[in-house]
Amino acid sequence: MSGNGRVSGGHSPVVAIDGPAGSGKSTVSRALAARLGVERLDTGAMYRAVAWAALRAGLDPAAGEPVADLARSLAIDVGERVTADGEDVTEAIRSPEVSRAVSAVAATAEVRTELVDRQRRWVAERGGGVVEGRDIGSVVLPHADLKVYLTASPEERARRRHEEGAAALARRDAIDSTRAASPLEVADGARVVDTTGRTVDEVVEEVLGWL
Ligand code: DC
Repeated sequence: MSGNGRVSGGHSPVVAIDGPAGSGKSTVSRALAARLGVERLDTGAMYRAVAWAALRAGLDPAAGEPVADLARSLAIDVGERVTADGEDVTEAIRSPEVSRAVSAVAATAEVRTELVDRQRRWVAERGGGVVEGRDIGSVVLPHADLKVYLTASPEERARRRHEEGAAALARRDAIDSTRAASPLEVADGARVVDTTGRTVDEVVEEVLGWL
């Protein structure tokens, strides 16, 4: 093993990070990827880009097939900036309108099929990486080297996402956890970490210890 926990000469690790909104996924996965020297994929940004495009096209986010058609034709690039059909939507996909619409888009099975396919290709092309979302350990990458499920108290999660509001956050979590298609759940074999009151460094050190 090298100092950063990576097996020298081997492939990059595949790490799945799941959890509800405000559980610390983005912060922890970004720090973890930096420590491992691998890339990170924010899959929530992909669902948000589709929701943004659906709203721009005047579609009902819950319309089903029309939204899936749009997802199949939309070019999405998720890095430090996020683009949809070449347009920079990094800030736009975090708007309250998109946050309200995204759970309906993510509950559409055909949208998930398309985005899950792209997520698996992203990992295959890089030979590893840190991927964060809701169904990464359960559906997208069930054979990940490490699966982590982050949680935090409802109060802490609402505080971290104060701009969305506690009620809107609770509503989104309820839809994400009860939908028929790949609901948010603790994947088989996932390590559960409660991030309430813990620093990013503490959580990242603990996760690195499992690789
Ligand atoms: O991580 P986030 O809050 O930006 O995600 C936005 C929405 O996308 C979330 O409410 C549920 C959905 N999502 C999903 O269904 N599956 C994923 N792998 C990632 C996000």
